Amino acid sequence: MHPDLDALIDICADYGIGHVVLAGGLPTVASLGRIKATGARVLAFAPTLAFARRLARSGVDGVIVEGMEAGGHIGPVSTSILSQEILPCLDGTPVFVAGGIGRGQAIAGYLRMGAAGVQLGTRFVCATESVAHPNFKASLIRASARDAQPSVQLDPRFPVIPVRAITNKASRDFLDKQFDVIRRHDSGELGVKAAQLEIEHFWSGALRRAVVDGDIEHGSLMAGQSVGMVTAEQPTAEIIDTLVHEAVSSLAQHS
Ligand SMILES: Cc1cc2nc3c(=O)[nH]c(=O)nc-3n(C[C@H](O)[C@H](O)[C@H](O)COP(=O)(O)O)c2cc1C
Repeated sequence: MHPDLDALIDICADYGIGHVVLAGGLPTVASLGRIKATGARVLAFAPTLAFARRLARSGVDGVIVEGMEAGGHIGPVSTSILSQEILPCLDGTPVFVAGGIGRGQAIAGYLRMGAAGVQLGTRFVCATESVAHPNFKASLIRASARDAQPSVQLDPRFPVIPVRAITNKASRDFLDKQFDVIRRHDSGELGVKAAQLEIEHFWSGALRRAVVDGDIEHGSLMAGQSVGMVTAEQPTAEIIDTLVHEAVSSLAQHS
């Protein structure tokens, strides 16, 4: 097991963490067993049905299906397609749906399709309790769905993991950076590894720059397409009340 993961599991055990969410790969039997031995439940992201089935067989307590409408790191497939592919085919393991949910009616829709629950990120970034910088919150409140775009990869030789964020100076500078790195690689100035590293390093610390320092030009303004439905700073309880009310009304209307 990776020593960092081992240390993280110790921290979760010390704090009595109830649920651990794993992203970015299939957990090993050893790490899953270690986490479960702390008493925590384990959830993991599944980008495909085959992956979801492997996770279910490996003994995770729940699977999260996140579509490309979401804020932050994303895959290539939409929430609506992933939900249709995975929800009817994964008996016995609870599936949570994430990505692009801004209203309770959408929650009701996914619950009707068989979801055990949903995960929302963007809708809560501007909660009063959120420690995000006021500049960051204001950017989200101003933005509409079409402002939340995935980062662009210019050259298949230098892969970019797509991140959905509000377009700003940093996202435009990222294109210039890639142009520059590709030019220097093609002229023999940079090796493949060094070129890839330069591209990857561009965004390092960028979320912190935006969320903590409030630098909305040079930081990463991670947000999903539901950002257009974030129109004000609101207490978390109010956001949840609204979502629950919308979901319950929708379920009652269509029962
Ligand atoms: C500002 C921001 C930061 C995020 N950071 C992470 C992260 O570090 N790890 C992670 O697994 N998901 C992260 N997410 C994704 C959320 O956990 C959640 O799955 C996603 O926001 C759901 O889609 P939505 O944004 O459409 O509601 C982030 C989302 C946002 C908006």
